[in-house]
Amino acid sequence: MKMTMIGTGYVGLVTGTCLAEVGNDVLCLDVDARKIEVLNQGGVPIHEPDLAAMIARNVAAGRLHFTTDVDAAVAHGTIQFIAVGTPPDEDGSADMQYVLTAARSIGRRMTDYKIIVDKSTVPVGTADRVRAAVTEELQARGLDTRFAVVSNPEFLKEGAAVDDFMKPDRVVIGADDERAIAVMRAVYAPFQRNHERLLVMDVRSAELTKYAANAMLATRISFMNELANLADVLGADIEHVRQGIGSDPRIGWHFLYPGVGYGGSCFPKDVKALQHTAVQNGRPLRIMNAVEEANEAQKLRLVEKIVARLGEDLAGRRFALWGLAFKPNTDDMREAPSREIIAALVARGATVVSYDPVSMPEAKRIYGDAPWLTYAASPMDAVAGADALVVVTEWKEFRSPDFDAIRHALRQPLVFDGRNLYEPELVRAAGLEYFSIGRR
Ligand SMILES: NC(=O)c1ccc[n+]([C@@H]2O[C@H](COP(=O)([O-])OP(=O)(O)OC[C@H]3O[C@@H](n4cnc5c(N)ncnc54)[C@H](O)[C@@H]3O)[C@@H](O)[C@H]2O)c1
Repeated sequence: MKMTMIGTGYVGLVTGTCLAEVGNDVLCLDVDARKIEVLNQGGVPIHEPDLAAMIARNVAAGRLHFTTDVDAAVAHGTIQFIAVGTPPDEDGSADMQYVLTAARSIGRRMTDYKIIVDKSTVPVGTADRVRAAVTEELQARGLDTRFAVVSNPEFLKEGAAVDDFMKPDRVVIGADDERAIAVMRAVYAPFQRNHERLLVMDVRSAELTKYAANAMLATRISFMNELANLADVLGADIEHVRQGIGSDPRIGWHFLYPGVGYGGSCFPKDVKALQHTAVQNGRPLRIMNAVEEANEAQKLRLVEKIVARLGEDLAGRRFALWGLAFKPNTDDMREAPSREIIAALVARGATVVSYDPVSMPEAKRIYGDAPWLTYAASPMDAVAGADALVVVTEWKEFRSPDFDAIRHALRQPLVFDGRNLYEPELVRAAGLEYFSIGRR
């Protein structure tokens, strides 16, 4: 099938590449000429496991192309996926300008039947707005060409995006057009060969499902974070509590890890956008306010512990920061807790030596030549001469460090672990003072 991906970011690039991998002819469009140039020169603008090889393979096979040419993109695919960003607007609502621009650009050019698929995370009612925008553009051209609008929210996780797309838990299709539903079944058939995982529903339910999923996951994280903070003062160990509740099949094991709060390009904005929709419709979700408030506070939980140990004035202190990305296996630093932690330490006069296996170029892009943030060549280089080690992202390579070497390299034997990566007894046995999130 011929498909166009409008927006070649984390979602568009992964989706387009995986669709090419199963034999489709995919053209990826972006307004960011630099991104398209990088791709056309054989580079990959994001870090995502397994993606680079898959892109190279499909480009070589002639099934995957990248362009900034909107005319070519609209002409190419019968299926036009919209995978552009939906960042938060000032009032917390999802900013729909990119989605609606993409819709209009299709309406302005299409000459035959198109299936327009909203893959971006969009508020309930967006498919109607996309339909209206396309219809308006067609009418302006004196046309009434047929088209369908489908909601197909994406559930892939950054850091495991290719695997998630190739082996989805479920594929949600929101549509009321039988022809479009049949085509979407065909699009996703190669990804669910051992059993059907396609859930076909009405458009509004599909749009709400995406927000419901992210809101639920964010809620579990904030719940565990608050519980961990309570465990801290009660002298309980959150790790035991986690195991005690995760073993209940009604609760399950996933997303019960306390830490430094959720970040990234999705949970923070989606929680806000869902709440905005709820308030606008007179049904505020009280629980979401609490989830967000708890998360904001949690991003500074580690700094609170640092201040409690070292005092408010951190002038002249140097902190080794392990991890900049908002989670492992990605270079994404959007709303990353590391940013709040760096800002809070620097505001108190400290400097930070960071190490992250893939996000340091992204950090350099964000912070430029800021003198208070430097980059180490290895985790141990970061630790050398620092006043404390602060662990922010749970990269695999941080999981089993040489604690003796860390104690000798640090100026003070202090470890602040924002991801509960270590066994407290093991760290303490090496002569280090260990601070975690809710562990005894
Ligand atoms: N990142 C994730 O893990 C993830 C997961 C599921 C859903 N989503 C949702 O998917 C959507 C995209 O997210 P992302 O992380 O891929 O964003 P992104 O910022 O990485 O990519 C969006 C891309 O769209 C491009 N763009 C904007 N307007 C355009 C236009 N008119 N024509 C062509 N290109 C245009 C931008 O230049 C950018 O490259 C968002 O709604 C997001 O909430 C993201």
